[in-house]
Amino acid sequence: MQYNEKNTRRDYDKGGISRHDLNSNPFQQMAQWMDAAKQANSLDATAMTLATVDETGQPSARVVLLKHFNDQGFCWYTNYASRKGQQLEKNPKAALSFYWRELSRQVQIEGTVKKLSAAEADEYFHSRPLDSQISAAVSHQSQPVDSRQTMEQKAEQLKAQYKDQVPRPETWGGYLLAPHYFEFWQGRPNRLHDRFVYLLQDGVWKIQRLQP
Ligand SMILES: Cc1cc2nc3c(=O)[nH]c(=O)nc-3n(C[C@H](O)[C@H](O)[C@H](O)COP(=O)(O)O)c2cc1C
Repeated sequence: MQYNEKNTRRDYDKGGISRHDLNSNPFQQMAQWMDAAKQANSLDATAMTLATVDETGQPSARVVLLKHFNDQGFCWYTNYASRKGQQLEKNPKAALSFYWRELSRQVQIEGTVKKLSAAEADEYFHSRPLDSQISAAVSHQSQPVDSRQTMEQKAEQLKAQYKDQVPRPETWGGYLLAPHYFEFWQGRPNRLHDRFVYLLQDGVWKIQRLQP
């Protein structure tokens, strides 16, 4: 089996970024780019690839949805007993990556991760649609299951039991990644792209242009 995409490429022509375009605060810069992605009707603008590493050094990556961020960090919700949850328990370092194809932009963020409080998890869990709460309660995320039917039966039982809201499973909650590194990438024609990193040094964000 061979799959060849050697000739698949396109030019990125959505403009460039220069040092004086950048906000000195990378969280503000991220907010500006997130706003722009939404204005460009980027589907799943808040979807980010989350990379974690297990205790042997093996990385794994999957998409999760960014739910909120501020100057402290970037937050998502998941199951603490999932594969990523187990990896973060042992190694609380992670990386996030956003790609907004409509704008030819990528953002990479690296930092350390901690759990959000139970109160924050409760608040967000119960703000979700009832069916989503049921699915989260039914799923032992990342564990094997014999059939889909097994999960659907459990969901039906919970639907009959709870009409307004479902108790939040103890293993379901949020994480916050506190960054020490950001990279903003703007695709440019002919592969001479713009890249700027923000590095946290002695509590101050230093900005540096990188070669593409
Ligand atoms: C667009 C998209 C959004 C997703 N959002 C989430 C999310 O917010 N939380 C989550 O736990 N899984 C989310 N998933 C599923 C994860 O990618 C993954 O399958 C799941 O979290 C189990 O990952 P793990 O076994 O590596 O822990 C999403 C998947 C996609 C494609």
